[in-house]
Amino acid sequence: MPSLMKSVVCLDCGHEMPVEPLPAQCAACGSKWMDVRYDYDAAAGAWRAGLADRTSTLWRYEELLPLADMTAVVSMGEGWTPLTQATNLGRELEHQHIFIKDERQSPTGSFKDRQGTVTVSNLRQRGITECVMASTGNKAAAYAAFCARAGIRLWIFLTSTVPAEKLRELALYGAEVVKITGTYDQAKAVAIDFAARRNLYYDSGADSIPGREAFKTVAFEIAEQLARLEPLGDGRWRAPDWYVQAVSGGIGPLGVWKGFQELKQMGLIDKLPRLALIQTEGCSPMATAWQAGQEKAEPVVPHTRITVLATGDPGRAYTMLRGACQETNGTMIAVSDGEAFRAMRRMARVEGYSMEPAASVAFAGLEKLIADGVIGADETVVVNCSGHTFPAEKHILEDQYVLDLQFGAEATAGHTQLEEGLGAALERLDEQVTTVVVIDDNPQDSRLIRRLLQAHKNYRVFEVNNPLDGLDLVRQRNPDLVVMDLTMPDLDGFALLESFKADSEVAHIPVVVVSAKTLTPADRARLEGRAESLWQKGAFNTRELVEHVVKTLGGDLTDTPDDLAEASAGQVAAASKAALDPDTPEPLRDIVVIDDDRRDARLIRRLLEATGRYRVHEAYDGASGWQTIESENPALVVLDLMLPDTTGEALLERLKANESTRDIPVVVLTAKDVPAAQRGRLLEKIISLFQKANLDRQALVDSVNETLSSG
Ligand SMILES: Cc1ncc(COP(=O)(O)O)c(C=O)c1O
Ligand SMILES: [Zn+2]
Repeated sequence: MPSLMKSVVCLDCGHEMPVEPLPAQCAACGSKWMDVRYDYDAAAGAWRAGLADRTSTLWRYEELLPLADMTAVVSMGEGWTPLTQATNLGRELEHQHIFIKDERQSPTGSFKDRQGTVTVSNLRQRGITECVMASTGNKAAAYAAFCARAGIRLWIFLTSTVPAEKLRELALYGAEVVKITGTYDQAKAVAIDFAARRNLYYDSGADSIPGREAFKTVAFEIAEQLARLEPLGDGRWRAPDWYVQAVSGGIGPLGVWKGFQELKQMGLIDKLPRLALIQTEGCSPMATAWQAGQEKAEPVVPHTRITVLATGDPGRAYTMLRGACQETNGTMIAVSDGEAFRAMRRMARVEGYSMEPAASVAFAGLEKLIADGVIGADETVVVNCSGHTFPAEKHILEDQYVLDLQFGAEATAGHTQLEEGLGAALERLDEQVTTVVVIDDNPQDSRLIRRLLQAHKNYRVFEVNNPLDGLDLVRQRNPDLVVMDLTMPDLDGFALLESFKADSEVAHIPVVVVSAKTLTPADRARLEGRAESLWQKGAFNTRELVEHVVKTLGGDLTDTPDDLAEASAGQVAAASKAALDPDTPEPLRDIVVIDDDRRDARLIRRLLEATGRYRVHEAYDGASGWQTIESENPALVVLDLMLPDTTGEALLERLKANESTRDIPVVVLTAKDVPAAQRGRLLEKIISLFQKANLDRQALVDSVNETLSSG
């Protein structure tokens, strides 16, 4: 059935107007705030019969959308996004009825595509070929994509805080992008002026009829989908008890609110959900006015890193939403940027949902409202996950998150060279995936520690400057080591350390404490057994700290500046000496490593010698390898399969054929892909086989230890 629009009514003077064409302002009083009315009885009849055979886009609700000519629709699969139960989040928040309206799964990655398709279809129906708009980011992407599809020229005015990636995306769609250094409200003013002077169509904000009407479909979908997930049993649609959304200009929730009202009027749902509208503290004119019980919101100058939500002057949208919240006993609250970022990481970690900060504001609000008991444990909640991660902004995701492993040009040259290239790359990757989290509320200190470590090793070092984010990051990244401060706001280092050790997933991670605090005996007792080591800020030797970290991480100190390398050589010597000491029960056992890649041979030597139990001899080809075996009579041999003068298999045959060497256990380490049949034959003669490309160093050492302790 086509659109069942009946009339347009002025929200200020009540004047009624025809729907074709949609008026830009009230013919009687000039107000821009108008609303469309439909034939709800006819729509209810059609929808009650079920919409199963309708299109999987928001156009399945065409009766209640403001487009007379359906042939004008510009569509690319927008709307009808999934409604999914958040069971894992529910477990963490102790709430069993949380549902996510997954608006990330929209053509340009945000719920603004709804507005895009309905508005641009309208422009097309009206023959408009050029459009001007202002946006905090997502509306721009949506319009740019739909306008590209409709062949409409689009001028977008944005603030300079919108990330460069986003600007590039818009330009890719062919939009004219104008960057304004100023607030979003200023960008809006410039855009209006620009459109007026050129006599171009300006697409307004929350007062836009197609825009608000488009967002009704979020309510329609939720009610239709929720009835399938949690049926009431009478075949009717179902409204949740709560609808939670992040708010900027407010057009989204205004539309959703109208959608639920229409469903109730049509008898498809039996109640209206309570609205929870969440803002970010750095830009919360609505939440502030709501808490103060004010009818109007005081405009603010936004100070938030979540630029998508930076509407400082919501105007009438606030007054209307206040009415909606009052009517449903809903609420408006603000959360901090930090809380939003944490909610974002939590959703990614526990549910696999990667979302942009603006969307995570709603989830941070949800956490707060559940914790405060505002949202009851038995109440069904739908949260709008309004946008995807892209573009991932720098303050959320530093470049270190990307692992960039480059092979040298020589890596493709020849067999031996290939192996060498892999060996070197393997070593680099090993270092690169070694992750350290530094938690210190003083950014200068955390940076110093990061630089200190990275000056010697290619580790990935993440810095966080508050303990709650630290806890979060450690759970998310599962690092190999944590370096932390003790005196921090929000959660002190002792409590943080206790949280780590109480969490079975991260309790095993060694924690090095670097703190300015003068430790009392009681402090020391609290750290005992929890911290790997303690370092007094300002009083420790940086080289010793680096050495300690490298050693704790099981790394070797080669490829480091001379002084450090010397120190490590000294350490190894000391370890050997200690092992040879008469007090030491076990003498060192000899191991021969035969590998033509000297780096790999050295790596294995370091790994094995670090145990303090072995003396390792390196050989780089079959002939010298054989000689070393004969002269050293080793307890074990580590053997590479590809050698310059022979193959590892041939050498293995020779070992097995010779009475004096037959019983020496052999571990094979190879860069070669070993086919299953060959692997089977090999494993009959050796104790274990390790692939260089994914070498588990610990497993290698364990295998050697096990063999030699039982032997
Ligand atoms: C991802 C996302 N969430 C929430 C909002 C806030 O929506 P509204 O403009 O309806 O207040 C926006 C606005 O751009 C957004 O892009
Ligand atoms: Zn009027």
